[in-house]
Amino acid sequence: MLIRYADMSDIWPAAVEAADRVEPDMVVGLGTGRAAAMFVRALARRIECGLTVRGVPTSVKTAELAKELSVPLTALDEIDRIDIDVDGADEVDPNLDLIKGHGGALLRERVVASISKVFVVIVGEEKLVPHLGAKMSVPVEVVPFAVPVVRARLHDLGAAVELRMGEDGPFESDNGNQILDARWTRIDDPLELEKRIDELSGVVDSGLFIGMADVVLVHHGDGFREMKRS
Ligand code: A5P
Repeated sequence: MLIRYADMSDIWPAAVEAADRVEPDMVVGLGTGRAAAMFVRALARRIECGLTVRGVPTSVKTAELAKELSVPLTALDEIDRIDIDVDGADEVDPNLDLIKGHGGALLRERVVASISKVFVVIVGEEKLVPHLGAKMSVPVEVVPFAVPVVRARLHDLGAAVELRMGEDGPFESDNGNQILDARWTRIDDPLELEKRIDELSGVVDSGLFIGMADVVLVHHGDGFREMKRS
């Protein structure tokens, strides 16, 4: 089941808070999805008021939005650091472990998050779960040649697996790969599962983001509350 907000404007205060944490001359990771798009909009407002930053987009779609809003962009070969990365998530457990990738940008999202000093996640309360896999499948990005093999191996690992479809056939990521959505009814050891998935030949990445988020800003009431990694 894919959770979608009927109206993302309620998450605006959390997006503004994330944008307020950006300091002059920072390099900023720009996530993908609706929450990340709200952050890009909040950041663009600060840039209009004189803030100087450079953004590293995690998808073609985010790059297009940033350009539309005049957010300056840079690329990984032009920087030596990312100061803060702000992105959404599909599930957040009490350890701040995440499922990501239902927008299809998991690989670039992980690359950017992995070199960011601070990784901030913005979500609505409905994304908080007692354990990963409570509501969502785990996206697994796979090179197209290997899809049948990886699909069978994920099934062996206990998952119900579906090939993600786009409008004209299998969904294609910005990297030219396909995505298998693997559904476990319960994930008891997400780190172990992440390792088991990653070691399958043909897998490029999975949507299990374990031990990566530093801060989660959760929409709450008219504002937000903050969860921090302990
Ligand atoms: C994109 O690939 C995803 O990881 C998104 O960050 C995630 O699906 C959350 O998206 P929304 O903010 O649109 O719910």
